[in-house]
Amino acid sequence: MEAKSPTTTQDAPDRMHDPPTANSGKTVPAVQAMKGIEHVSPDRWTSAASTPKIRITKLSHMRYRQPASNMDNLVTFLLDFGMEIVKRTENAIWFGGYGIDQYIYYCEIGQEKEFLGGTWEVKTFEDLERAAKLGNSNIVELKDAPGGGRYSLIRNEDNQINFANKSSGQGKLVTIHDPEGFPVNFIHGATPRARPIKQPTEALQVNDEFSKPRKGAFQRFQPGPAAIHKLGHFGLTIHDFELQFRWYTTNFNLVPSDMLYVPDTDGNKVDVAAFLHVDKGKAYSDHHSFFFSVAKDKHVHHSSYEVHDYDSQNMGHYWLKEKGYNPVWGLGRHKLGSQIFDYWWDPNGFMVEHYIDGDLVNEDTPTGRQLAGDESLAVWSEPVPSTFLD
Ligand SMILES: [Fe+2]
Repeated sequence: MEAKSPTTTQDAPDRMHDPPTANSGKTVPAVQAMKGIEHVSPDRWTSAASTPKIRITKLSHMRYRQPASNMDNLVTFLLDFGMEIVKRTENAIWFGGYGIDQYIYYCEIGQEKEFLGGTWEVKTFEDLERAAKLGNSNIVELKDAPGGGRYSLIRNEDNQINFANKSSGQGKLVTIHDPEGFPVNFIHGATPRARPIKQPTEALQVNDEFSKPRKGAFQRFQPGPAAIHKLGHFGLTIHDFELQFRWYTTNFNLVPSDMLYVPDTDGNKVDVAAFLHVDKGKAYSDHHSFFFSVAKDKHVHHSSYEVHDYDSQNMGHYWLKEKGYNPVWGLGRHKLGSQIFDYWWDPNGFMVEHYIDGDLVNEDTPTGRQLAGDESLAVWSEPVPSTFLD
């Protein structure tokens, strides 16, 4: 058989005279990074805003119901995923990380699996009351959750300090529903840990080709799960973008960092996804604590947990792989938010993610609007699997 001769058509690139450009990477100011990308006017989320908005301070924890019949497998998975059991009762398990949150994942032990919503910490009790009113729901005092009580310094009418006002420390919670029926929880009064538990992985000294600060010292590691610091974000697949966008951005201080659109048959841009951060004015917050994206089926897409660095994330990846769990996608680096991601299925089919190195934004960071497509998902990775987009 005749050997195939090398292609010499005019279309073929001449590698000698037209070499590929080497990959590159650098940290650039957000405004520069978004040069040439459409910026969305804040009118998009402020014009119909209720006054004042219910003030969210952070994403606190996720809530899931998981089947009792598969609880041992789920617990084993979450421990291999890097969580710790903080408290266990007959009806529930609270899982924590090593950050200041008492817990980051509440697991109700039930019959069928069910997504019970993300939980937002609100600034004041009044904010919690307003959330309850918005959803026509009742505030409940958490009695079983982890978290000690604390004394607050309040003054009585005679201006005397009253030390006797001890809160439960577990906080009060209200669950309401968004326009598409997803549960949304709000918590106030939960006492955080005084300080993070010591992280198991220390900051490494890294040598690159020119800068070599590590001299006479070696990198040494202990394989194991990637210990989780905190809950970072979660997301939903939804049907009605405008309905959901209006509800989340007008009632709460959730502001899009990035939005994605698709063109309709007339060429108009139709928004289909938003990545939202907790607006704290000049203070910086994670690029997204929440996202929603239009899809055929409505469901929770994934919840995402921060780990320490690239080595701990990779060791966590191979730990999960060796245990035979089901990977979804990763590792890779997202474009929007810049996180290095790693997605896995839990034993009951909920998707969870490890991430590191996310962007931070504030009120001065422009909101971008780009065409939705695979290229908006990752800078580098294996091709996105279809199961991720369902
Ligand atoms: Fe994510």
